[in-house]
Parts: sequence; C-alpha cells; structure tokens
Amino acid sequence: MVTAPERVWWRVPVSRAEMVWIVLAFLLVMVFFSLWMALWHGIGRQNATGAAYKVAPQTYREEVFAFARQWKVGEENGIPVVAPPPGSHVYLLAQRFSWYPILKLKAGETYHLHMASTDVLHGFSLSPHQWAIQLYPGYEWVMSFTPDKPGTYHIICNDFCGLGHQTMLGKIIVEG
Ligand code: CUA
Repeated sequence: MVTAPERVWWRVPVSRAEMVWIVLAFLLVMVFFSLWMALWHGIGRQNATGAAYKVAPQTYREEVFAFARQWKVGEENGIPVVAPPPGSHVYLLAQRFSWYPILKLKAGETYHLHMASTDVLHGFSLSPHQWAIQLYPGYEWVMSFTPDKPGTYHIICNDFCGLGHQTMLGKIIVEG
C-alpha cells in the first residue's frame, strides 16, 4: 500500500484561476473585517468614543455625591433625582447594585457624561441610545452625550457583577 503522495504536489505552482480566487477571498475578508469594522465604528451609534482617566474610587464617590447634592431636585426609591445645568459635566456612579444618581437632562443638549465603577466591573448599557460600555473599577470615562429625544432612557448592567446583577437598573430622564 502506498501512503506517500505520488509527487510533491505542494510545490506545484498555483494556477491562475486559483490565485484569482485567493485574491478575491482575501479582499472580501479585508472588506468585511477591516473596512466594515472601521465604517461601523463611525456610523454605528453603539460605539461610543470617549476618554478614560485613572481615578481612585473614593475620590470619584465624593465627586458624585457633591454633584448630586448640588443639583438634587427630588428622590426616587432613595436615589436622588439630579437636574444639572444644560451642557454641564454630569456624573454617574456604578456600584453593586445600582446606578447613582437618576439624571434629569434636556433633550438636544450636549453633556460631558462621567462614569465610573467603584467596586467591580459593570456594563453600562443605555436604551434606546444603544450604548454599551464596560466600566472597569479605577477608571473614569468621560463621553460626550447628547440625548436627542425626550423620554426615559433605561440603564441596565450587562456585565455579571454578582448576585443582584439583574436588579442593577437605572435611568436618565430626558425632558423636551
Ligand atoms: Cu453591575 Cu451587573
């Protein structure tokens, strides 16, 4: 029984047609992978672009509490409802298992949204704005946020952060 190939077929030059298909397949991969990813980053709203800074959890907590005290207009289930001036810096704190505070913003205004987790990894997911951002403890995200439509935007945590993860809900109230 012959187990070896009859000739060294891997040294046979690639035929023209085969080369054309290799090039076409390669170009398709480039289009779908690189070009599409780059394009989607630009036109897809789910890819938020922002800056991240290192921050100590305690420092960030104090920042958020001071911000909430300054602009508090109400309270819901023990969480302050905060209405900062349009276009200002606004703060959101992620911790097991809540989003603090409830922001009340104006539609069409651009805010500097600061976000950080002070304990474990949380996933900030905003609907209907379609953002999904991972919040690593020790880092503060600052993103430009323009809520375009009035309504209630729901925040859910989409990274498992412990027993109670599924109850980690928050909201941003957007007024017209
Ligand atoms: Cu926070 Cu899951």
